[in-house]
Amino acid sequence: METPTDRIDMKVAARRQLTPEIEEFTLVPSTDMELPKFTPGSHITVETPSGAMRRYSLVNDGTAPTEYVIAVKREAESRGGSSSMHEDAVEGSSLSIEAPLNEFELVDGEKYLLIAGGIGITPIYSMAKYLTKIGKPFEVIYCTRSEEGTAYLEDVRNFGNATIHHDQGDPDDAYDFWDRLEKPGREHIYCCGPAGLMEEIKALTGHWSDERVHFEDFNPIQVVRDNDVAFNVTLADTGQTIEVPADRTILEALRDAGIETVSSCESGTCGTCKCTLVSGDVDHRDMVLMDEEKADHIMICVSRAKSGDLTIDL
Ligand code: FES
Repeated sequence: METPTDRIDMKVAARRQLTPEIEEFTLVPSTDMELPKFTPGSHITVETPSGAMRRYSLVNDGTAPTEYVIAVKREAESRGGSSSMHEDAVEGSSLSIEAPLNEFELVDGEKYLLIAGGIGITPIYSMAKYLTKIGKPFEVIYCTRSEEGTAYLEDVRNFGNATIHHDQGDPDDAYDFWDRLEKPGREHIYCCGPAGLMEEIKALTGHWSDERVHFEDFNPIQVVRDNDVAFNVTLADTGQTIEVPADRTILEALRDAGIETVSSCESGTCGTCKCTLVSGDVDHRDMVLMDEEKADHIMICVSRAKSGDLTIDL
């Protein structure tokens, strides 16, 4: 397996409840060190107490950071990541993270339209604070189900140029973006939120220049599908056989069995969890392996048996 790099040992210095489902975590380094700087839109990957790796946007100023601040929503269908953060990452807990990365970078523009849905506010909030600081014009449209469930509500209101819309979970009451997006403007659009919102914005900005519309998707990827079935994985070096339940990945089943593995994205895109395939028929679901690698490699965070059982070498 490949080994992840740029790990930093952090601890939870403070927690703050933002809404009944969203907690803010302030993480500080466990040892005396200078934290890497970051720009608005950056995220860190956190090894959550369950062992699952999850990406969270940074909401504090990254110019000379002494801490990293993230907000975590307890997902109803959490597979161990967000629920273990809520339950087990208490003040003083140690957490290993990967250094900040930015795949949602603000480009230099004249003005900006920032669109957030739900917990997708985190990178948008950080961008809005930065644009305020440097004096660039921007507007925020922030859609959530209810006022009670809206993180950073007062802060966003205080930007003074925010539209906040609550739909109470009623699709008929969803915000109507068409008036705002009908005529392509000179602004750059940054959008982060649930899949439905992002798809809508993609559809409504089809006539905008691609360069002006930017998306960040932190929604958990559906790595296990409804019709998946259980199978066994045997580890070639020890001969141990682990059952992979229908609703778990190989990586999760190994972790549940106390077997150490390395991972990062857990969505089949980074390459960290690559293992040697010794035998078996694999349903490859990753975006990493080249066709010629598929006969003897497997990405265990997403791929599973197509039929029968598998033997792999960690
Ligand atoms: S952990 Fe990234 S591809 Fe598996």
